[in-house]
Amino acid sequence: MDITFLLNGETVDLSDVNPTTTLLQWLRDQRAMTGTKEGCNEGDCGACSVIVQDADTGGEMKALNACILFLPQLQGKSVRTVEGIAASDGSLHPVQKAMVDCHGSQCGFCTPGFVTAMVAGHQNGATDWDDQLAGNLCRCTGYAPIIRAAEQAATEPTAEWLNEPIPQFTDLPSHAMQPTTSDELATAYLANPDATLVAGATDVGLWVTKGLHDLDPVIFLGRCTDLKEITETDTQLHFGAGVNMNEMRAAITPHFASYGEMLRRYASNQIRNAATLGGNIANGSPIGDNPPALIALNAQVQLRRGDERRTMPIEDFFIEYGKQDRQPGEFVERISVPKQPDRLKVYKLSKRFDQDISAVLAAFNVTVEDGVVTEARIAFGGMAGIPKRAAHVENALRGQPWTETIIAAARPAWDQDFTPLSDMRASAAYRIDTARNMLTRYFLEDQGAATSVLEVAS
Ligand SMILES: Cc1cc2nc3c(=O)[nH]c(=O)nc-3n(C[C@H](O)[C@H](O)[C@H](O)COP(=O)(O)OP(=O)(O)OC[C@H]3O[C@@H](n4cnc5c(N)ncnc54)[C@H](O)[C@@H]3O)c2cc1C
Ligand code: FES
Ligand code: FES
Repeated sequence: MDITFLLNGETVDLSDVNPTTTLLQWLRDQRAMTGTKEGCNEGDCGACSVIVQDADTGGEMKALNACILFLPQLQGKSVRTVEGIAASDGSLHPVQKAMVDCHGSQCGFCTPGFVTAMVAGHQNGATDWDDQLAGNLCRCTGYAPIIRAAEQAATEPTAEWLNEPIPQFTDLPSHAMQPTTSDELATAYLANPDATLVAGATDVGLWVTKGLHDLDPVIFLGRCTDLKEITETDTQLHFGAGVNMNEMRAAITPHFASYGEMLRRYASNQIRNAATLGGNIANGSPIGDNPPALIALNAQVQLRRGDERRTMPIEDFFIEYGKQDRQPGEFVERISVPKQPDRLKVYKLSKRFDQDISAVLAAFNVTVEDGVVTEARIAFGGMAGIPKRAAHVENALRGQPWTETIIAAARPAWDQDFTPLSDMRASAAYRIDTARNMLTRYFLEDQGAATSVLEVAS
């Protein structure tokens, strides 16, 4: 595969690239650019953070993890590593200067990753540093000096030398395995139904770096601009499968605030800049964060195989653990969410607040009219082999007065709906207890009680 991109302002043309070579591997092994560090090699620590810009999306700077970023995902984009942050005359970027002033580095291993993530945030005008840097781990300095450095830098103007427009590459090599529209993708996938689709590579990247799988052939979805569209009608919100988690968060928050707040805790900024909605559904994970929320909202998923499209309620897509209703050559094209009054609450339970996979994820959407439950859609991740509705609990609530009595009366129904497993994230008993308790939380929150540790003040 032939690839063209900008690296620290210089054009790089590569031929016959192995499509699953990661940017981190290439930088360190082929370019001897060792500023970008390898820590975990699985997207968790941020030591490998680089900045990627795309002329198509207005040049916004995105921090991404180079360890799970395949070279073809960079086609036509601009990459900046820590070596390309200072000005050509050697002047430090305000972020670099602030890291020195605030003693933000001790052993220095995490520092290039912090600097690149912070520069991306600084150039974009971000100030939510706890969120921006949640995907960067430091083992020795401690976070206070690093956050102080970010805050100091935020008072400085952005660096002129990083504000240059990204050139539009007009004659990029075309390749059937890098379709640019969903029509081209449909044709390529139908002809190669055994190919591995790669969207954000936040799952697939690990199959390569940790599973040591040889993937061939591979079809990259990242250039299909129509899969990144978000559209709105009077009754529906439509999300292309290629919408990433930060874009999803921005678009869903005005409609379903709790969904948006949950996505703030989806992995880290670097992962949210890569991971797509389609990937989070198509991987069939029982602990993916979007499916329960989408099930509770009665969303529909649109699948496409060649020119044929079919649509189903998203809960029907998940058949059993590891099995989804998807045919060879068929891909997730779009997800549609009906507009409705915002009764949704999404609760993510994980061992860490940030950058952690859910032990249990609950989504409640209960409609109450004149004090009586008229509709209930409740869905969970982490409670079964698939994202699953609490159908018996829903039935126990429907038609009943919305009181604590009915929530207590519904307690036996939980065991009819779920027999969760024990694993490293949580025991079965903890999962079922917390699931029950989360309905009480939803009820209390509905009565106006502050139930989040972020809201409760002493
Ligand atoms: C550090 C880290 C933290 C994470 N934290 C979370 C978290 O908090 N919550 C969470 O839910 N997940 C989390 N994940 C998992 C991961 O981010 C998600 O599963 C993600 O949504 C996958 O999307 P992707 O675009 O990266 O998919 P990819 O890795 O590109 O693909 C995943 C799978 O879906 C298939 N696929 C992709 N797009 C399509 C499509 N349109 N049609 C059909 N098949 C398709 C691929 O072939 C592959 O089988 C985390 C992962 C990492 C590495
Ligand atoms: S090396 Fe840890 S996120 Fe890439
Ligand atoms: S300075 Fe040593 S890991 Fe952060």
